[in-house]
Amino acid sequence: MPDERPWWQTAVFYQLYPRSFADSDGDGVGDLAGAIRKLPHLRRLGVDAVWICPFYPSPQRDFGYDVTDHRGVDPVFGTVADAERLIRTAHDLGLRVVIDFIPNHTSDEHPWFVESRDHADGPKRDWYYWRDGSAGRPPTNWLSLFGGSAWTWDAGRRQYYLHSYLEEQPDLNWRNPAVRTAMYDVLRCWLDRGVDGFRIDAFRQLLKDPQWRDNPVNPDWPADGDPYHRLIPLRSTDQDDIVMIIGELRDLLRDHPRPPGGCRPDDRVLLAEAYLPIPKLVRYHGTNGDGLQLPSNMNLLSCPWQPRAVAALVEEYEELLPPGAWPNWVLGNHDRSRVATRLGHDQQRIAALLLLTLRGTPILYYGEELGLPDVHVPADRVRDPVALRTGRTWLGRDPARMPMPWTRAARAGFCAEDVEPWLPMRPDSAELSVESQQDDPASMLTLYRRILELRRTVPALSAGNYATLQADDRLLSFRRGHQTGDAVVALNFSDHPTRYDLPPDRFWQLELTSQDGAASRILRPHEGHLLLSGQNKKV
Ligand code: GLC
Ligand code: MG
Repeated sequence: MPDERPWWQTAVFYQLYPRSFADSDGDGVGDLAGAIRKLPHLRRLGVDAVWICPFYPSPQRDFGYDVTDHRGVDPVFGTVADAERLIRTAHDLGLRVVIDFIPNHTSDEHPWFVESRDHADGPKRDWYYWRDGSAGRPPTNWLSLFGGSAWTWDAGRRQYYLHSYLEEQPDLNWRNPAVRTAMYDVLRCWLDRGVDGFRIDAFRQLLKDPQWRDNPVNPDWPADGDPYHRLIPLRSTDQDDIVMIIGELRDLLRDHPRPPGGCRPDDRVLLAEAYLPIPKLVRYHGTNGDGLQLPSNMNLLSCPWQPRAVAALVEEYEELLPPGAWPNWVLGNHDRSRVATRLGHDQQRIAALLLLTLRGTPILYYGEELGLPDVHVPADRVRDPVALRTGRTWLGRDPARMPMPWTRAARAGFCAEDVEPWLPMRPDSAELSVESQQDDPASMLTLYRRILELRRTVPALSAGNYATLQADDRLLSFRRGHQTGDAVVALNFSDHPTRYDLPPDRFWQLELTSQDGAASRILRPHEGHLLLSGQNKKV
């Protein structure tokens, strides 16, 4: 029976950070031509869709998340023709393409902002949030995610403007219909160039409290915590009428005609960055499929890495998802410490098994398939503005953005050997490289490929329902139920051998172990097992 579900429900997404993927022109910075050459790696890995982080013209204050032209391509990354070639090449390989869309803010060098700032009476005066302060103080107490007040005084206009991130990233006024029209035209432009959808940056920031009320103080904030969390961003994020914007976005994707060779309107997908606890996140899914298809569920990134906590998170999501909604899972991205560092080298194999066997669409960060840990970045090589401006290096995101190691050559094949890559690379890059891992049956890359292959052939893994079996101090096991046969996943979070029970209603066959070697119903330390009931593979 053919699988009738939308492609993005069976797909695995791969997040490609172009600065760090592959450099083709010898400047030490990854680019689109480099990425195109490496797309076959994604095919061999067995993912189905690629989300490409920003490549638009930008002063690169926030590495492309500060855009000056949403329709263009920065010369550092290539040209619009390269972007179109990337989309075509990916499609020829059977990969869908989703690009980053950055609607919440622009660069302060964007012509819109320059006009808005310099012409307080002009047609773009309200394209950004300009407000008077009171008594020399900013209009609200809101904080920037990147440190300090979210308001910056502009001496020319004699007003404050709002920026949820850097002061070079002023927030667009999404309550202004002219702004929405202009940004929707950007989406149409890229749909015409053939993309299959968008990952929407900073989506929960898009609308703010129209009454400009202060954010409440967070009583649980630890004094050594991220200063942004000193306040609860109640008024500056996640406003109720965001559903209106979601509706407009869905309508646009549905109504925009299919370009030659491009995506069918009903196949288009919206992924959105949404750091929200489950009860707030589920609203973004809408009901009966009228919301975002994949509002990113970031909760595994902050969940304590313990079987009970993970089980409780999965159960909460499963329970609160509205009818017709489809789950998704994220375990790493360009803003967070990598799995092998955050959860530890020993745990990364069960982390991979968990991400790829939970019910829902996994979003996989580049390099995780190699088990890449964070890279140490010496003070003089720090690039991330978050680290540089707050002086809090532990908030910096460079360590998770190391250039991808492809080969055993110098610079690991990321760039030419005589070129310094934009970020340092780990001394063990050769051993971690694709070349070193691809034929090694015990490598992380082989494990990823095998699990991804099973996901494609075992319907229980991509479509089956979820039920926790056991969750205690050491063990998490769950069952994925499907009419063609069930699967059980058992994960040992501890460094002790741990026994697991199997439901007695089936015969179970061990299909995959996360570590090589003999296996029994006892998990070795940090080990995971995947078992199938009977004949449940697609033939
Ligand atoms: C999102 C991006 C992050 C960026 C920020 C501002 O959080 O993932 O990398 O710095 O938005 O655009
Ligand atoms: Mg380059």
